[in-house]
Amino acid sequence: MRIGVVGCGHWGPNHIRVFSQLSGSTVTCAADPDAKRRAVVAGQFSGVDVVDDYNALVRRPDVDAVVVCVPTRKHEEVTRAALEAGKHVLCEKPLTVGTAEALALTDLAASRGLILMTGHVFLFNPGILKLRDLMMSGQPGRIHYLRALRTNLGPIRQDVNSVYDLASHDISIFNFLLEAEPVTASAVGASFLRPGIEDVAFITLTYPNGVVGAIQVSWLDPKKLREIVVVGDTKMVVWDELAPAGPISIYDKSVVREQYYDDFGQFHLLAREGDLTIPRVPPQEPLKVQNQYFLDAVKSGYLGKSDGAFSVSVVRVLEAIARSIAQGGAPVPVAQESK
Ligand SMILES: NC(=O)c1ccc[n+]([C@@H]2O[C@H](COP(=O)([O-])OP(=O)(O)OC[C@H]3O[C@@H](n4cnc5c(N)ncnc54)[C@H](O)[C@@H]3O)[C@@H](O)[C@H]2O)c1
Repeated sequence: MRIGVVGCGHWGPNHIRVFSQLSGSTVTCAADPDAKRRAVVAGQFSGVDVVDDYNALVRRPDVDAVVVCVPTRKHEEVTRAALEAGKHVLCEKPLTVGTAEALALTDLAASRGLILMTGHVFLFNPGILKLRDLMMSGQPGRIHYLRALRTNLGPIRQDVNSVYDLASHDISIFNFLLEAEPVTASAVGASFLRPGIEDVAFITLTYPNGVVGAIQVSWLDPKKLREIVVVGDTKMVVWDELAPAGPISIYDKSVVREQYYDDFGQFHLLAREGDLTIPRVPPQEPLKVQNQYFLDAVKSGYLGKSDGAFSVSVVRVLEAIARSIAQGGAPVPVAQESK
């Protein structure tokens, strides 16, 4: 498969490297209007033709599929052009800013028989896959809540806020782990560095069956944290991408009810402290796994993960969060956005 990569900023060269390394693909062309970025890519990847206009790239006969790695607000325009030129697309997350645009793109891809996948890379992260396996096997028991922390000092984006940039990852992870979309969203966001672009947000999502999802994101924080805690009624599991001992820790901890001897109608709650287990999770580069999955999907014509419905759902949640932030944190229904 011959790949064209649009956008050669911070992340684009990673796609060029990975698709150059995978056995089923080569990168023929890359596009960026910024001459400095073009020079960097031309210097790093000798076999790649580097151009300034993505319209030229999507029309090339030696490009079968396009990777869209431009700033988020430009995803829609570039993805549409690639699909209209008859090319399969792997678009970086989130697919678009608005739900209507995301739906229109997935309809366009379906009508042309093309694969349109969003790069929700944590769906291919070995630690997240282990966490999902544990949840599917029922180890944590009935899930009470999930909490995510994704903070750091920078990188600060110009075009979208920390919710679109960072929380898009956690929303995709929560929806993937719970196989559900939240019913309501409420969020408080604050713009300390530039007006109108929230640097920090505190988000609460309610999922079906009473499961609560809490997400805190910030690019204005002293600590780099990448953590998800899953609390079930029998065990608690922590995913910490930066933990030296391994990304998954299973805490055999819970709270049990014990009956009082003297009053059989009354219970007291006791903390049960068991073992801590850190299972082996073989490391794999998630971007490599994701991009191989995209190649396989184009080959087979079937996309099972991070497909149109999944990508639209993430955007629907992002839009609901934006509405709640605009309303000072009031809970808003997610499904108000068109399905
Ligand atoms: N999956 C991940 O973990 C991950 C990590 C980083 C970034 N991303 C995503 O990748 C995308 C790009 O992020 P980045 O960090 O590389 O941003 P960036 O700002 O560093 O780079 C974007 C590049 O796109 C170029 N560009 C702008 N308009 C263009 C156009 N019309 N045609 C071609 N190129 C154009 C810019 O000149 C710039 O070089 C974003 O959607 C971001 O959300 C994903």
